[in-house]
Amino acid sequence: MSHLIDAVKNRYTTKAFDSSRLLTEAQLADIKTLLQFSPSSVNSQPWHFIIATTESGKQKIAKSTENYGFNTPKILNASAVVALCTKTTLDDGYLQSLLNQEQKDGRISDEASKQAIATGRAFFVGMHNNELKDCQHWMDKQVYLALGTLLLGAAVMGIDACPIEGFDASALNHELGLRDKGYGATVLVALGYRSPTDFNANLPKSRLAQTTIFTEI
Ligand SMILES: Cc1cc2nc3c(=O)[nH]c(=O)nc-3n(C[C@H](O)[C@H](O)[C@H](O)COP(=O)(O)O)c2cc1C
Repeated sequence: MSHLIDAVKNRYTTKAFDSSRLLTEAQLADIKTLLQFSPSSVNSQPWHFIIATTESGKQKIAKSTENYGFNTPKILNASAVVALCTKTTLDDGYLQSLLNQEQKDGRISDEASKQAIATGRAFFVGMHNNELKDCQHWMDKQVYLALGTLLLGAAVMGIDACPIEGFDASALNHELGLRDKGYGATVLVALGYRSPTDFNANLPKSRLAQTTIFTEI
């Protein structure tokens, strides 16, 4: 079995973390790279990531789990907690900054290709902004790709993780002043190492059968 398939089968949602085991700076750097390099539609990258490794940072995030008490200890005992946030708008200034970055990174050879990229991106952004009117939802979907990248990457790195939707996004937005910065919290991930008391570590995984979820044509 390849390392990747091993990791996919062995990863699991960690329900109790060992607060004495911390991620290294190198691991945190790799986690940032995983998030930075996650793909997104038209390379829109409509995200921002808050990474809490300090007690005070984790306490701030934990406040948003007041009504989800089962998640509070995961946040407080994890080594790092990532709040994956979604931008609130995709405006012209931001689209221009994406284009500038692509130019800086050497993806744009001439004015014609720059225009083509800008037009292509504006088409999709315009469609979601003006016709489908689901731009926020579309951006959230991109953030969930980053969530998948992070969970898979953590598993390959041998880091335990707990994805968390059980938190009050409005409360966290308020606590961290996120709306004023142009984004809002979408989903959390607690990262670190399992506690020996984690009941979930030894339970078998459960998934629907491949005959149910796949159709080959
Ligand atoms: C987007 C998302 C949100 C989740 N939210 C929570 C949560 O708030 N608390 C929790 O304990 N588990 C949470 N989970 C874990 C799921 O219950 C878990 O992934 C699922 O049961 C499959 O188990 P596995 O991750 O161990 O393979 C979440 C998972 C995902 C993908």
